[in-house]
Amino acid sequence: MKRIEILRQSCLDKGFDGFLVANEINILYFSGAPGASCLLVPDGGESILYVYGVNYEQVKAEAKGFRVELVKREENLMAKVAEHVRALGIRRLAFDTLNVESYRAISRKLRGAAKLKPQGSIVWSLRRIKDMDELELMRRAAELACEGMKTAQEVLRPGMMEYEVAAEIEYAMRNKGSWGTAFETIVASGARSAYPHGGCVDRKIQAGDLVVIDIGASYRHYRSDMTRTFVAGEPSSKQKQLYELVKLAQEKAIKAIKPGVKASDVDAAARSVIEKAGYGENFVHGLGHGVGLEVHEPPTISPQSMDKLESGNVVTIEPGIYLVGFGGIRIEDMVLVSEFNAEKLTDDFYGLEA
Ligand code: CO
Repeated sequence: MKRIEILRQSCLDKGFDGFLVANEINILYFSGAPGASCLLVPDGGESILYVYGVNYEQVKAEAKGFRVELVKREENLMAKVAEHVRALGIRRLAFDTLNVESYRAISRKLRGAAKLKPQGSIVWSLRRIKDMDELELMRRAAELACEGMKTAQEVLRPGMMEYEVAAEIEYAMRNKGSWGTAFETIVASGARSAYPHGGCVDRKIQAGDLVVIDIGASYRHYRSDMTRTFVAGEPSSKQKQLYELVKLAQEKAIKAIKPGVKASDVDAAARSVIEKAGYGENFVHGLGHGVGLEVHEPPTISPQSMDKLESGNVVTIEPGIYLVGFGGIRIEDMVLVSEFNAEKLTDDFYGLEA
């Protein structure tokens, strides 16, 4: 398994002879299967997946090339891992994340046989660069979100409830092959569209309302994230003007993307457009975030971010302007940072008028 080999090499480079993966999404990343509780990667030989009975058969069927250890109800997971660490002769064990209880338990059981050190950044340095297999799945997840958004544009009209629009979107994505939604669908209308996390409630959409629709599909555990803003009916000139401003901010940011660029500079490319127009205070969040197995993951694109963008990152670019009482506008696309430029994975269509 290629990812395991890269992890081993990174461990070796940093002087570790084993890695304990305890974060469930990281385990999924390395094993290709959900449901295991821990993954122990020694510097050679088979890696071990630890699985409770409830998920044992599924992991055995879906995770290829691993030794799958059943953790019995009466057994302590950390005691079992510690036993194997000792038996394999691992002396310097890196791990991603352990809660305090698990950390204490494994330390106690190891009794000094191996040194434990948190090295979550090793895993993130892998996960943030998407490989070819991942990109194929992410393209599919992005396409499915586009299907949902096209449906939103088709069905949206004054008089509909927010949840009815969400139902149509989710049905369309599911019907085209989505495994589920990447997160709770947002259909925030009228004054509620000024809440970036407005969710979706039992509100009737009125003519002239701004409607922010933020959706994502999931395909083989990979997620997508996309936002469009529509107006139910005729947009006003102020709505149009703000929309064009957000669109311009997004375009400037996407143009600024290239490998090696500071994420904070990409944020600034969009933010300065909105600031110059006098709405800096109304852009109340960062410009974007990485997407992959999780909907929010490194790198972060914000004024405070210390990240640099690299070829293989998949990030969102989502400027917004939110005016209390008036409503909000956000446009979000998923972008792949490639060697020379940025490629949009979500469709290049805009629809202020529904
Ligand atoms: Co997003």
